[in-house]
Amino acid sequence: MTLLERIKERAKQGKKRIVLPEGAEHRTLRAAEILIKEDIAQIILLGNPEELLSAARDHNLSRIEKATIIDPRSHPDKEKYIDLMVELRKHKGLTRTDAERLIEDPLYLATLMIKAGDADGEVAGAMNSTGDVLRPAFQYVRTKPGISVVSGAFIMILKDREYGEDGILVFADCAVHPDPTESELAEIAVATASTTRAIAGFEPRIAMLSFSTMGSAKHPMVDKIINATRIAREMAPDLQIDGELQADAAIIDTIGQSKAPGSSIAGKANVLIFPNLECGNIAYKLVQRLAHAEAIGPVLQGMAAPINDLSRGCSVSDIVNLVAITASQASRE
Ligand code: ACO
Repeated sequence: MTLLERIKERAKQGKKRIVLPEGAEHRTLRAAEILIKEDIAQIILLGNPEELLSAARDHNLSRIEKATIIDPRSHPDKEKYIDLMVELRKHKGLTRTDAERLIEDPLYLATLMIKAGDADGEVAGAMNSTGDVLRPAFQYVRTKPGISVVSGAFIMILKDREYGEDGILVFADCAVHPDPTESELAEIAVATASTTRAIAGFEPRIAMLSFSTMGSAKHPMVDKIINATRIAREMAPDLQIDGELQADAAIIDTIGQSKAPGSSIAGKANVLIFPNLECGNIAYKLVQRLAHAEAIGPVLQGMAAPINDLSRGCSVSDIVNLVAITASQASRE
């Protein structure tokens, strides 16, 4: 069974309620048809029910009728969500009039449904930018206890099985937080450990990456990685983590042994934490393209409930896979 097949199986067992705010979008509708057929999650589509069902009929998508379809303009619990919005954001100056307008935006409604316990997770982004998907999530779903920053991991499946965990490595942060502080970097490592267990299904061995290995260079950027490693160990004493390590010392056994003798992670890392978003985003794209690796993600982590962001160039199967990942996160976290 491939990793994606295992993720889908786990999702099927959990039967979580996943809300798709871009309900009338054609790839989303096709993905919903497959998700319902394969029984991967309970699907909630947001949008005008008449338009949505008529589009489904036009495309011969007969199972869409089995989804829960909600019109953001007339949700029966609209007042409850407006109250919740005002309660959560009045300290930021949100008025009831603002909330009455925002709740009709499907991206806001989806996060309020999750906050109120009426949905377990969300997938969006087929027609909205990352910022527009994440902002309501940051504001209303917020982060898990002990975590202040949301980040994005990629599960990289390499053709060469010699590296990581039988050819699988988890990279973070590749998607969200541009310039983390040392304590935020530590949180990203701890959150990535949870994602690795929940989604990739193995025990993480984390390398905190740098351009230096165990003091080979002296620079404030190196100090930041050393401090982040110490903070991560304080946050999660059982974590298998080491740093600072260069990428080759992290993943190649002989180099790890010569540059970082005595490290139990050097040469054996299956999770790579990058110093910032520039490094992480560039690295995952280079590995994806030059090494022809499969990149699954970004899996957003650190949020109090699973919310994942699609690329606007996504395919129907990208949506199906990300819903399965989201449902699997909802089952395991
Ligand atoms: N984790 C948790 N909360 C956050 C985070 C975060 N990473 N970033 C911002 N917030 C919160 C803020 O604390 C603030 O909360 P508040 O309103 O309660 O005070 C709220 O979100 C808004 O904060 P802003 O600083 O105004 O955030 P903004 O909306 O401008 O930016 C965003 C957030 C869009 C995620 C920004 O960090 C960003 O653009 N990141 C890069 C995304 C990107 O382009 N990634 C690369 C492409 S993805 C890919 O290639 C796969």
